[in-house]
Amino acid sequence: MSTVSPVSTSAPTRKKMTTLAFRQKKERGEPITMLTAYDYPTALAMDKAGIDSILVGDSLAMVVLGYENTLPVTMEEMLHHARAVARGAKTALLIGDMPFMSYQVSVEEAVRNAGRFLQQGGMDAVKLEGGRERADAVRAIVGSGIPVMGHLGLTPQSIHQLGGFRAQGKTASAAKRLVEDALLLEEAGCFGIVLESVPARLAELISKKISIPTIGIGAGVGCDGQVLVTHDVLGLFDRFTPKFVKKYADFHAAMNKAFTDYIEDVETKRFPSQEHSVEMDDKQWEQLLSEL
Ligand code: KIV
Repeated sequence: MSTVSPVSTSAPTRKKMTTLAFRQKKERGEPITMLTAYDYPTALAMDKAGIDSILVGDSLAMVVLGYENTLPVTMEEMLHHARAVARGAKTALLIGDMPFMSYQVSVEEAVRNAGRFLQQGGMDAVKLEGGRERADAVRAIVGSGIPVMGHLGLTPQSIHQLGGFRAQGKTASAAKRLVEDALLLEEAGCFGIVLESVPARLAELISKKISIPTIGIGAGVGCDGQVLVTHDVLGLFDRFTPKFVKKYADFHAAMNKAFTDYIEDVETKRFPSQEHSVEMDDKQWEQLLSEL
């Protein structure tokens, strides 16, 4: 670990973000900011930057654990990463993404697993995918005092049913179903809804029809807030970048350069230099040599 003193990043103290504050931002027409995080240093940097909310997304499966899709990630893995994020972020609203099969089997399991995100993962709220078919689970989780965010449109846990990672709601009938689902999720008690890969004008229409905030990803500027997968934002995930992502950095290339530079430095003995080595007092050294 480096011993270089950290750069001071003291941000003005902010109040802890709440689901109520989410709603108030929508009412004031102020966009809500959200990004995903899966570890302590990323959560710390995001929180200092002033992000409104951090989602510990099940995208963890793909961008951190290297799986093909989000289906294999487990509750235990999600909780492990949620705890790391909670240790780093003190102000953002923290949302734990319920993994595949943690809420689909029964309402009881859904409530129990949602509770684990708060009790064992340090999260403030949970997110789950689906519309009308999840209304009972949402009602029961909210009924036990846990805030729930919905997720409509491209729901990656259903990729096999959707036929892949494809945009949703492009026909009038599919769009109508999404509007109905959004209204149902609001009625069931969700405090917000992620809209993923749906036409921008549909997302705007939904955002106007419901009073809870919509958070868009590939859903245009008419949503009440935006979320992106951080590994896409930072250029850390090299497999593919969805069309809707704006890349703010190329960390994959930067990492590659740092690692090749390090290898070269070690191989050519440029590292460690004297400044990276521990010195020993001459007198102590002489004494050691005389005693050997
Ligand atoms: O898992 C995730 O990162 C998500 C976002 C894409 C919204 O669900």
